[in-house]
Amino acid sequence: MKNIAIFASGAGSNAKKIIDHLRNSDTIKVKVILCNKPGAGVLDIAAAESIPTLLIDKEMFFRSDDYVSILQEMEIDLVVLAGFLWKVPANLVAAFPDKIINIHPALLPKFGGKGMYGHFVHEAVIAAGESETGITIHYVNDKYDDGRVILQERCNVDPTDTPAIVAKKVHALEHRWYPVIVERLLS
Ligand code: GRF
Repeated sequence: MKNIAIFASGAGSNAKKIIDHLRNSDTIKVKVILCNKPGAGVLDIAAAESIPTLLIDKEMFFRSDDYVSILQEMEIDLVVLAGFLWKVPANLVAAFPDKIINIHPALLPKFGGKGMYGHFVHEAVIAAGESETGITIHYVNDKYDDGRVILQERCNVDPTDTPAIVAKKVHALEHRWYPVIVERLLS
């Protein structure tokens, strides 16, 4: 059995798609959801699915190794960032080399880096007059949005598109591809 840990701080729609995709898997299990935001939607999803959660604060995440040991004890094979906004610290990257992946809602290296998340990304894409955008699934190192690319998928940006419309197209790509890639990486 391969175990995954999902790190999420938001609504958790990607987490939900991954959970749904792996629900009947005999080989991959969503072992824990780690979250840094009390009240985040992803915690309700975890509760409804009876998946254990680990709520962490800044101090614990950036200045201790405690949760890293917890993840190691849980024998986590893949850490999946799904809407987790804190930069992953070096100790976590070192403990899980090539075992942490992220999804970014644009075609990296464009529109990545600190502060480039959620609607800011789609606003920047429109402001730059891009005719296409998409998703990037990539390995995580200790810089923002910088690790080796695993998959990119594209969608059109029409001249009349608002950031909300672009967000919808990008979310559809995320939901379609992230669960498949998680499964593929562990098979
Ligand atoms: C996604 O758009 C993902 O690209 C980004 O954070 C968002 C999370 O959305 N990294 P959700 O919480 O999965 O709905």
